[in-house]
Formats: sequence, C-alpha cells, structure tokens
Amino acid sequence: MSRETAFQGLQCIGCHSSYSKGEILQKCPKCGGLLDTIINPEILSGKSKDDIDRTRSMWKFRDFLPVDPTDKIVSAGEGDTPLRRLSSFQGNVWVKDETKNPTGTFKDRGASCAITALTQTQLGIKDLVLSSEGNAGCSFALYSHIADLRCQVFLPRQANPAKVELSRKLGAKVTLVDGTIADAGRRAEAVAKGEGSYNASTFVTPYRHDGKGTMALEMCEQLDWRVPDYVVYPVGGGVGLVGMWKMFSILEKIGWVKKRPRFAAVQPAGCAPVVKAYNSKKDDVDEWNNPETIAFGLRIPKPLAGKWILRCLRESDSIALSVTDKEIRKSMGQALKDEGLLLEPSSASTIAALPYLYGEKMIDKSEEVVLIATGSGLKTLEQF
Ligand SMILES: Cc1ncc(COP(=O)(O)O)c(C=O)c1O
Ligand SMILES: [Zn+2]
Repeated sequence: MSRETAFQGLQCIGCHSSYSKGEILQKCPKCGGLLDTIINPEILSGKSKDDIDRTRSMWKFRDFLPVDPTDKIVSAGEGDTPLRRLSSFQGNVWVKDETKNPTGTFKDRGASCAITALTQTQLGIKDLVLSSEGNAGCSFALYSHIADLRCQVFLPRQANPAKVELSRKLGAKVTLVDGTIADAGRRAEAVAKGEGSYNASTFVTPYRHDGKGTMALEMCEQLDWRVPDYVVYPVGGGVGLVGMWKMFSILEKIGWVKKRPRFAAVQPAGCAPVVKAYNSKKDDVDEWNNPETIAFGLRIPKPLAGKWILRCLRESDSIALSVTDKEIRKSMGQALKDEGLLLEPSSASTIAALPYLYGEKMIDKSEEVVLIATGSGLKTLEQF
C-alpha cells in the first residue's frame, strides 16, 4: 500500500475540537469529552483490498489504525483470529474466536494499538496506569512488558485470580480495590494525576477502540467482503462496539463493502444499563445500581462512552437484550460441549442470547450472524 497515512489527528466527540497527533492527550482538554482518532476515508479509498499486508496479525490493517507508516509496531501476533461456523445452532451463525489472542481475549487488540500509538517518538509514553476488570490489565501488562513501559493496574477485588496473577507475572503492579470498576477507575485517575502517568483506561485514552475495530475488518475479509446481517456483541465499556461501527462505516465509505451490519448488543440482566437506555430510547446511559453478575467484564454500571454507544446502536438500527447469569452459565457448558469453545462468562453471554434472538424472531434463521467470542475461560476456571 502507499505510505500516505489516513491517521490525521484527534477529535472530541463532544465539542468537535481537533488536536494534532503529536499531542499527548487523554480526554478533551477543552470540554472533558471523549476523543476519537481521525482516520480519513479519502486516503484509504485510494487503496485496494489486494494491497492488504500479508502480516498474520491485526496489523495487516495498519493503514486503518492510528499510526504512521514508519512507526514501530508493538505486537504479540494479536488478531487474525479464526471465523468458524457455530454448527450447534440451526441459524447461519459464525463465531469470531477471540480466545486465540495472546492473553486469551480481544483486549489484546486494543492494547497493542494503544501501546504502539503511545510509544512513538512523538509521544514517548514510558509510564501508564489503567483500571480494568482484569482482561485489559493482562493485555496492557503484556504489551507494556514488550515495550518496556511501567504499567500499573487497578482491579476490583472481585477480579478473577488468574487475571490478577497473569498481570503480575507480566510485570504490572496490580492493586485490588474495594467496589466496582468505577472505584478502580477513580484510583487510576488519582495515580495518573499524582504521578504524571498516562491513563490508558477505557475511553480515557483515544487509542484503544480502533484496535478492537479490526475485528470488523477481519470478519469482512474472512467473508469475502460480505458484511454479516448481525454482529452479536457483549457490551461492557463499549470499546469493541464503537470501534467496529467506525470501521464498518469506513469500509462502506471507501466502497469495500455494500452495507453495514446491525448489532445485537448483549448485557447481563444484573447490569444492563445500555440495554435499558437503548430500549427506553434515552440518549445517555443512567448508572445501574447494585450491579451483580458473574460476567465481570460486563459489570460496568455507567460506561463512559454511554452516549457514543447509544448513537452507534441507533445508527445501526440494532437490537439490545439482556440474559440472566443462569443462562450464561448454561451457555458456557453448551459452548464447551458442542463447539469446544472454552468461554468466560462475559463472552458466553452472546451464546445465551441466541435462543432469544431466534425464538423471539428478532433474527431470521436465514440471516448471517457473527458472534464475537471475546474471551477465553482459561482465566475464569473457578466460574465453571
Ligand atoms: C471477555 C470480555 N468480553 C466483553 C467485554 C466488554 O468489552 P467492551 O469494553 O468492548 O464493551 C470485556 C471487558 O472487559 C471482556 O473482558
Ligand atoms: Zn471537547
């Protein structure tokens, strides 16, 4: 591909102020809103599908990502995950198997993208902090280790022990915090302020969602540039949903695909603030009181990107639904037995949603569906 870069800077989704890509930024300095990277479709439209890099990782799509052509990529071979048939359902369902990523979840895509962007000479970040329910902590620990960054992770005390252990083994300093991820987030923010560390928490940094957006690029390529009718996705902070919607939109603008999909956004019944807000036609997400679920990755009482997530769901005319912990647990057993898929609860929630989606005729059996298996059960064995 030509080496002209589509990455042109950052823009606030609230006040629309633009910033140069050489500035070290987290949220918008003017209004505190969330920042998005500017990826210019006009530059990408000069490229051809035949020019896609042969790299066996998500970086084959580096032209769509917030990096410059000469930037050094921080990679552990993330992405390029299999898309395979989910044969135990009668519908037309594929599973994008993100458990095959280096630390077992799709979070590796966001971390590889963010750490690559943050360690370029212009920004030169050496020290970062983040809050996480556990999986992002492992991913940022791995890529920080590769890139020689200091990494501090704040996790809710309830986090799965293997996530804590793995983050520590990978060199991160892990602190367990009483309460939810919101409490962990406040601690991360205080450390970022106090120690001058870069805060890489969900949507506090603008560099994670494009990495997860590569799932959209890969699934279209794997389907010979057909776009599925639905993408079934477990929504926590909404990073993957926002990132994929952005990439589907870019693909449509540059003419590589003919349409965009609808999402089926899934949350656990014990913490479903996005489902509630979307189905009651709100334009922001209210905080969910007393979140309680075995799907720790989806235990986000008030996603920072609430408005952005709802906008993506509305633009895509999506469906949002919740499933119970009992159904999630049953689906974990079913995915393992029928498909050999060892999933963590957050990830199995999408499997639990399928009977509703078909039973309530929200999705027709002829429609093509891609379900994202976001995370491996290897880090949540005590929950089986
Ligand atoms: C396994 C798993 N699935 C889904 C999610 C939700 O991801 P997102 O922030 O993209 O909504 C998480 C987040 O922690 C997760 O760990
Ligand atoms: Zn702003």
